[in-house]
Amino acid sequence: MLRRLHKDQPASFEFTPANLAWAKGQISKYPEGRQASAIIPLLWRAQEQHGWLTRPAIEYVADMLGMAYIRALEVATFYFMFQLQPVGSVAHIQICGTTSCMICGAEELIAVCQDLVAKAPHTLSADGKFSWEEVECMGACANAPMAQIGKDYYEDLTADKLRALIGRFSNGEVPVPGPQNGRYAAEPLSGLTTLKDFESGRMQYNASAQFAVDIRDTVKRIDGTEVPLTTPWLGKGPKAAKTEAPKAAAPKAADPPAKTPVAAKVAKPAKADAAVGGKQPKGLKAAKKGKADDLQIIEGIGPALEKLLHELGIFHFDQIAQWGEAEIAWIDANLKGFKGRATRDKWVAQAKLIGEVGTEEFLIRAKTNNY
Ligand code: FES
Repeated sequence: MLRRLHKDQPASFEFTPANLAWAKGQISKYPEGRQASAIIPLLWRAQEQHGWLTRPAIEYVADMLGMAYIRALEVATFYFMFQLQPVGSVAHIQICGTTSCMICGAEELIAVCQDLVAKAPHTLSADGKFSWEEVECMGACANAPMAQIGKDYYEDLTADKLRALIGRFSNGEVPVPGPQNGRYAAEPLSGLTTLKDFESGRMQYNASAQFAVDIRDTVKRIDGTEVPLTTPWLGKGPKAAKTEAPKAAAPKAADPPAKTPVAAKVAKPAKADAAVGGKQPKGLKAAKKGKADDLQIIEGIGPALEKLLHELGIFHFDQIAQWGEAEIAWIDANLKGFKGRATRDKWVAQAKLIGEVGTEEFLIRAKTNNY
């Protein structure tokens, strides 16, 4: 399809300080004279910051890399991972329409998007939450038909399943990505016929879905605490454009391990949060007997969240099990980029159950969310 820059463009673009530091780190990976090789990650980060790739952003990145604008424009307009127009504030949905997916029902998925989102691709839904497009093969053909929603793949879809997913995203939920028909990965639907020992000891989800669940990157887009996804200035007056200009980006799980102090990672309670109240949970200076519990056993806590909890002095299940409403409210409101997780994933109930039955029995029950 024709990929053109959007007719309405903001006046300027610049990386937030955090993204600028990240971008400089990327550029430093390449030898002198080869800085242009960083073009794709930098354009991607610019898109993550703004929600879609604007002309000022493309030119800003080209300037950083000492490239002619036309070279950067060639890259941005070639790859469909780059969105050249505003996308939904919750998610942009990319439906694969290539052979396997087409044979397995991609056209029905497109019909769902036309029904729920907008008749034409690259058009915002009435509430501004979604947009969609048809794309070429995304390499998940064994799990056709599939769609990329936000940053993750949702596979083995049907029209009904896609409808339900869009509904859940719209409600602020983050459905687990990966196969949506009960498959673990790309094995036969009837189950493994060989190499069956693989089933014991595997993670709850396949590696890709597990990573997505752990880093919760999709959620950051959804709760809107990280970056504005839609065009902040479109259809609004200059005042709104000014007040909604990109803020400093929240720390990302994928960022290099931060020397950032915890205070910078944990958002200062906003006014709205203050109304919620809450009390910071009491932390320990260090793990008891020098050994922290594996907090990642609690479903919903991945490496990034565990690190944040450690920085708050939370090392043990029994600490979490003791949280009352005030502590949960504080955690829900103040872990920037992970707002509402303690409540949504029932950390306290999980921690209590671990205390009661031990981690082994807990992991069995966790498979059915029975806590
Ligand atoms: Fe759809 Fe390959 S044909 S992912």
